[in-house]
Amino acid sequence: CGIVGVIGKKDTTEILLKGLEKLEYRGYDSAGIYVNDQAGHDYLVKEKGKISQLESAVGPEVQGMMGIGHTRWATHGAPSDVNAHPHVSQSGRFYLVHNGVINNYQEIKEQYLKGVNLVSSTDTEVAVQLIGVLVEDGGLDTESAFRKALSIIDGSYAFLLVDREEPDKLFVAKNKSPLLVGVGDGFNVVCSDALAMVAQTKDFVELHDGEMVIVTKDKIQLMDEQGNEVTRKPYHVNLDPSDISKGTYPYYMLKEIDEQPAVLRRLVQEYINEDGTFNFDPKLIDALKEADRLYIVAAGTSYHAGLVGKPIIEQIAQIPVEVELASEFGYHMPLLSKKPFFIYLSQSGETADSRQVLVETNKRGFPSLTLTNVEASTLSREADFTLLLKAGPEIAVASTKAYTAQITVETILAQALAVAKGLPSANDLDVKHQLGLAANGIQTIVDSKDDIEQLAHEFFANTRNAFYIGRGIDYWASLEAALKLKEVSYIQAEGFAAGELKHGTISLIEEGTPVAAIITDKETASHTRGNVQEVQARGAKTLKIVSEDLAQAGDQIIIPTLETVLSPLVSIVPTQLLAYYATLQRGYNVDQPRNLAKSVTVE
Ligand code: G6P
Repeated sequence: CGIVGVIGKKDTTEILLKGLEKLEYRGYDSAGIYVNDQAGHDYLVKEKGKISQLESAVGPEVQGMMGIGHTRWATHGAPSDVNAHPHVSQSGRFYLVHNGVINNYQEIKEQYLKGVNLVSSTDTEVAVQLIGVLVEDGGLDTESAFRKALSIIDGSYAFLLVDREEPDKLFVAKNKSPLLVGVGDGFNVVCSDALAMVAQTKDFVELHDGEMVIVTKDKIQLMDEQGNEVTRKPYHVNLDPSDISKGTYPYYMLKEIDEQPAVLRRLVQEYINEDGTFNFDPKLIDALKEADRLYIVAAGTSYHAGLVGKPIIEQIAQIPVEVELASEFGYHMPLLSKKPFFIYLSQSGETADSRQVLVETNKRGFPSLTLTNVEASTLSREADFTLLLKAGPEIAVASTKAYTAQITVETILAQALAVAKGLPSANDLDVKHQLGLAANGIQTIVDSKDDIEQLAHEFFANTRNAFYIGRGIDYWASLEAALKLKEVSYIQAEGFAAGELKHGTISLIEEGTPVAAIITDKETASHTRGNVQEVQARGAKTLKIVSEDLAQAGDQIIIPTLETVLSPLVSIVPTQLLAYYATLQRGYNVDQPRNLAKSVTVE
C-alpha cells in the first residue's frame, strides 16, 4: 500500500493524486483521499480500482490546504469503496490511512468498541474508531489518544491521522511499515516512499519504529514512544525525475529491461576502481572474511537472485552459501554455522518477511549486509552494511533490472572477498571483463526485441501453462524466467530442473504445451537437449535459449557466451521480454499485474 499526506499547500488535491500515482505500483485495488481547506470544508473521496478512477471521482470542489491519501493492497477485507482508506471515526471527526496489519483488531473491537458500528471489514477502521472513542468518551486530547491507541495496537503500521477539529496538524506514527516526513519551505509532506513526493522536496526525515510525529506546515515534531522529543537531520534523496517517468516507453517494464546494460556498467564503475581494486568498506570485507558461511535471505525475484549468487560466491570466494526464503526462514531457523554472516537481498529494502529475519539475526548479534536499490530503506538502516544496487527506481511490479543488478553486485563482492582472502583462484575469472561482456550481451538481446515479440506470439498464445527447464545455473535462471512469465501474463508457468521433469511432472505435457529450455552450460547441455527431445516426443512445443558456444541449427534464441556461472545475467533477458510481450498480446497491464504489490510490507 502507499501513503501520502501534505500540509500547507494550496494544490493539496493535486499533490495527493500525483503522489498516489507514483505509489500506485505498490498496490492498487482501491484508493482514497481526504482534503480539508482549514476553513470549515472537507472532502472524502474513495474508489475501488485504479488511481485514474479516483481521479475521475474527485470533483473540482475538492480543494484544501491539507490532506491525506492512500492506495490499498487488500489484506483484511476485499477491495471495495467502503474498505478503501481513509477510514472515518463514527462521529466523522477523525480520518486515518494505514499501511500494515493490526493483529489484535478483534480484541480491540471487543474491549473498546462495543457501541460502535463498524462499516468496513478492515483492521484499519478499528484503529480510527479506537481513537474516536478515546477522545470522545475517554476525554483525551487527540495527541494523547493517538499515543494511547498506539500502545494498545499490536501490529505493523504507518499511520497518518487527521482530526478535523485541528486541521493544522497531521498526526503520524510508524511501526515496521516504512514512513518518511518530507521537509518543505512553508509546507511539509508525509509519504511511505520518497518517490511519491520528490516533486515537492528532496529532503526527508526517516522515522523509526515506535515514533510519533506531529507535522504542521512549518514544524516537524518528532517524538519517541515515551513522548520525548527526538531530533534527526533530514537526508537528501538523489532522484532524477526522469527516473520515475516512462519517457517514451509504453510501459516501465520495458524501460527497465532496456536499462540493464547501463545498470551493469554503472555498478562496475561504482564498485571496481580503475586500478582493479574494489570500492567496498574494508570493514565489510573483514566481516565477510571472518564468516564460515553466508546466509542469503530474500523473497520473490530477490530470492532467485540469491540462488544464482550461491554458485557464483561459492566458486569465486570459496565459502559455503545457503539461500533462504525469508518467509520460511524467520520461523524455522535451521541450525546455523558457528560464524554466520547474513546477506539480505531486497530491491525495495522494505519486505516485511526479510525484515523480521533481520530483526532476529540482529538480536542474536550476527553481522549483516543488505543489498538494496533503495537508500535509507528499513533493511538498509538496520543491517550493519549496505550495498546499493544503483539501478534507479524500479517501478514495474515485475522485477527485472534489480535481479541482474543483484547478481552483478554479488559477483563483484565475491571477487573482492576472494582477493582479500588471497585465494589462488581469485583472478581465474576476470569479473570486470565478464560484466562488460554481459552488458554488451544484454544490449544485443534487447536490440532484437522484434524477434522475441514474434516468438512470444508463436509460443505462448492460447496456452494456459508453460515450463522453463534447465540444469544447474540454468535451473536457477528457469525459476526466475517462470516467475516473470506467470506474474505478468497469468500463464501458469513452472521452472523445473530439466532432469527431474521425467520423474513426475512430465505427465502434464500435452499436445502443444510450451517448454522453454535454457542451455548455457557445456557440462549439461547434451542432457538438457535430451530432455527437450523427451517432451517434444510427447507433443510439447519447444523453445531453446542457448549460449552462442553451444548453439545448434534450430535453436531459436542465441545469447552471448559468458562464464557459465554468470550466464543468468544474459539468459534471463529474453525471458523477461517473452513475459512482457506475452502479457501485452493477452491484453493485460504488464506494469500492474492483478493481486500483486511491488513492496510487500506485511508478513
Ligand atoms: C514482492 C514483489 C516481487 C519482489 C518481492 C521481494 O512480492 O512483487 O517482485 O521480488 O516482493 O521484494 P524485494 O523488494 O524484497 O526485493
